[in-house]
Amino acid sequence: MVATSVKIKHEVKDLSLAPLGKQRIEWAGREMPVLRQIQERFAKEKPFAGIRLAACCHVTTETAHLAIAIKLGGGDAVLIASNPLSTQDDVAACLVEDYGISVFALKGEDAATYERHVYTALDHRPNIIIDDGSDVVAALIQHRPNQISDLIGTTEETTTGIVRLRAMLKDGVLTFPAMNVNDADTKHFFDNRYGTGQSTLDGIIRATNILLAGKNIVVAGYGWCGKGTALRARGMGANVIVTEIDPIRAIEAVMDGFRVMPMDEAATVGDIFITVTGNKHVIRAEHFESMKDGAIVCNSGHFDIEIDLKSLGAKSTDVKTVRSFTQEYHLNNGKSIIVLGEGRLINLAAAEGHPSAVMDMSFANQALACEYLVTNKGKLEPGIHSIPVEVDKEIARLKLEAMGIHIDTLTAEQIEYTNSWTSGT
Ligand code: ADE
Repeated sequence: MVATSVKIKHEVKDLSLAPLGKQRIEWAGREMPVLRQIQERFAKEKPFAGIRLAACCHVTTETAHLAIAIKLGGGDAVLIASNPLSTQDDVAACLVEDYGISVFALKGEDAATYERHVYTALDHRPNIIIDDGSDVVAALIQHRPNQISDLIGTTEETTTGIVRLRAMLKDGVLTFPAMNVNDADTKHFFDNRYGTGQSTLDGIIRATNILLAGKNIVVAGYGWCGKGTALRARGMGANVIVTEIDPIRAIEAVMDGFRVMPMDEAATVGDIFITVTGNKHVIRAEHFESMKDGAIVCNSGHFDIEIDLKSLGAKSTDVKTVRSFTQEYHLNNGKSIIVLGEGRLINLAAAEGHPSAVMDMSFANQALACEYLVTNKGKLEPGIHSIPVEVDKEIARLKLEAMGIHIDTLTAEQIEYTNSWTSGT
């Protein structure tokens, strides 16, 4: 699969980075045995022959393997970034140069470029959209409704995107099938929890090089991403405080051994704040006011809306970049607040996103969800569809097999027992 950049439409930072990208993509592949098996099958069966796909994902070494799976499967794909700061420029270059895949993504692209690339993806007239956050699907519905008839369906990677799809469904505008990759067990149990947990701390450490042991780390939100982040922060020796709005999750955090309190209170004691709620302005003006001098704030939720940076800016006399992805805001009250990664996903801005071993399962789900859409073309109702449980279980089985882990199977007697109701106490 060797291509030359001349023929492939693209907008990437620097094609000379391709050899580095190739090396790093191959390294990631070592931890992605499930997706590799899917790639091998797709190469033989060509499930995407004649299908145009537009993928809006973080352009990482792991996403490269998903894009390669689609290309090997005969798909005609374009790839754009799902976040202005998450693109790995060497990966983008390699996909164009070595794999002949059209990529439109640059690390640090401005909002106008990001938006332009969303329309570039739609210009491809996709039959399948692979979305991470629902930006392409939202643009399609709002601005290119005439293209909806081209669509077989979409797949959605993340919690925020699923929340948006549900809102579209409620408004009656989701008129095509959307595969809910996020809620597959082999996705959110691992990617959202262990992936976000590890990569968020990785991002904070790479951006600041600070010691986490003994720090008060405030985790806002105790969904799967919050659970993983709190767990890993505790593992590094931090005193973890959780903030929540959901009473059940709050009890869960308490019983998992974390202190739970409102943000008003947490703001006064936290050394490091991590937002993972999916909602807006979780840390806002009144919180900045009461934070300790030198408090660090960052976000690991999908959009850069969780920290109200506008009001922080309004309270500040100046802002200085003190390290890569690390900005110090000097407040009128004499204190300073440190913001990491401009309030965007810190794990992808300052680090490399989730490790390959979890993305293996997430992207196996994506690849199989795309295949499912093609196989069931015209048969799926409009709306949000779960990944079939057999697919989810098969991904887990393949992962265990690749890890060399064997598990038990039910005996005939146990199967009979679970199917009967007559034997009790
Ligand atoms: N989302 C979080 N981590 C990621 C990664 N490594 N690649 C693609 N998408 C991601």
